[in-house]
Amino acid sequence: MNAKTKPDAAATGDANPMWGGRFAAGPDSLMTEINASIGFDKRLYAHDIAGSRAHCSMLVAQGIVTSEDGAAILAGLDRIEGEIERGEFAFDAALEDIHMNIEARLDEIVGEAAGRLHTARSRNDQVATDLRLWLRDEIDRLDGGLKALQAALIDQAERHAATVMPGLTHLQAAQPVTFGHHLMAYVEMFGRDRGRLADARGRLNECPLGAAALAGTSFPIDREATARALGFDRPCANSMDAVSDRDFVVEFLAAAALAAVHLSRLAEELVMWASAQFGFVRLSDAFTSGSSIMPQKRNPDAAELVRGKTGRVIGAFVALAVTLKGLALAYGKDMQEDKEPLFDAVDNLALSIAATAGMVGDMEADAAAMRAAAEAGYATATDLADWLVRRLDLPFRDAHHATGRIVRLAEERGATLAELPLEALREVEPGIDESVYEVLAVERSVASRASLGGTAPERVREAVAAARERFL
Ligand code: ARG
Repeated sequence: MNAKTKPDAAATGDANPMWGGRFAAGPDSLMTEINASIGFDKRLYAHDIAGSRAHCSMLVAQGIVTSEDGAAILAGLDRIEGEIERGEFAFDAALEDIHMNIEARLDEIVGEAAGRLHTARSRNDQVATDLRLWLRDEIDRLDGGLKALQAALIDQAERHAATVMPGLTHLQAAQPVTFGHHLMAYVEMFGRDRGRLADARGRLNECPLGAAALAGTSFPIDREATARALGFDRPCANSMDAVSDRDFVVEFLAAAALAAVHLSRLAEELVMWASAQFGFVRLSDAFTSGSSIMPQKRNPDAAELVRGKTGRVIGAFVALAVTLKGLALAYGKDMQEDKEPLFDAVDNLALSIAATAGMVGDMEADAAAMRAAAEAGYATATDLADWLVRRLDLPFRDAHHATGRIVRLAEERGATLAELPLEALREVEPGIDESVYEVLAVERSVASRASLGGTAPERVREAVAAARERFL
């Protein structure tokens, strides 16, 4: 309990504030420094208190703790929660972590009854419970963020269902697509990211409480009751598994890493599109910054940081997987290293999602620049080849060859395909007539790709409506 107030520490000459009896000397200051997690795990306070409330009520219901002691403990926990929320709580590194800090304060407030709260419990099942509860809430928050991002993408996609841009492969103009179709691709990705987070949430929703240190407890506890009180689907089936695995964190981080990768790809596209060389979009002042030396600059810093933060989210996944891989069952203090990478990944992913939603919501597309780029890249060459197959019955390979010659011709004349005169086209393939110009226009090209999941504006509008049903 608290070194300052625990009277029997002085009386018995105990050297350690938490486990007096066994220790003759206090910890080295380096030991305190390497051992303490309170600097970061104080973040778990609300979930720690929620777990303690459930545990306390169960102990009372089972007749393990008297209702008077239980009431005192619950009142003390309420008071501590208030103190922490108001910033009045004095966290102490000598008390290691959030669990001991709260228990020590409880001892100050309610005296002897406080010591009864830890009956049939260990910090091992306590911390595993806290972290699951915390992550469950964070997953819900991230899901809300991803949903808002999808909403921003869907709104822009609807606005630009017919805005033509070059679709790229190998970063080279391939075929015209619509900007709306391109944005809807990300709606699908973020939909799967939400699905992965939901899966991880479903699997983590089992309660470790009652596993105690590793083997369970000799007290007649009711694990179903604590699981239910905390909104878990069921208690963890195996006490050793309950305290020794952090697979739920690794699984979450894997899903988070993939979401970060998706965000990073979108961010990279925003950086490219916003460049003078592309000029496809204009990011708002709210999400760009100037240069201290080059007055003309409008840097897409937010997008670059979203791209840049991906590394630390992936890093968190790797860090925890490596931490766990050599650990014999059950709990090892190594597992205290799970929290900082997890907290960092959650914070930066949430921030990245919100910033991306902001950028997407605010951005303005330059439809004329996109259209010009689609035309400049001969993006309708495939349409021409398909026309030769359909109308002149050429084998596709021959049509491909003839189209290649026409593209070269256009290149030599500095013209788009649609600008080439009919005589020039006929020099390459005499069967071509006026009607070919219908497929050379980029609008015709996208309109023709009306297959399921294709880029035709009518399909994009359907996809927008369907996505609102599926995701929002
Ligand atoms: N601060 C510890 C952690 O984060 C709590 C569990 C400590 N358990 C123990 N046996 N020392 O993992």
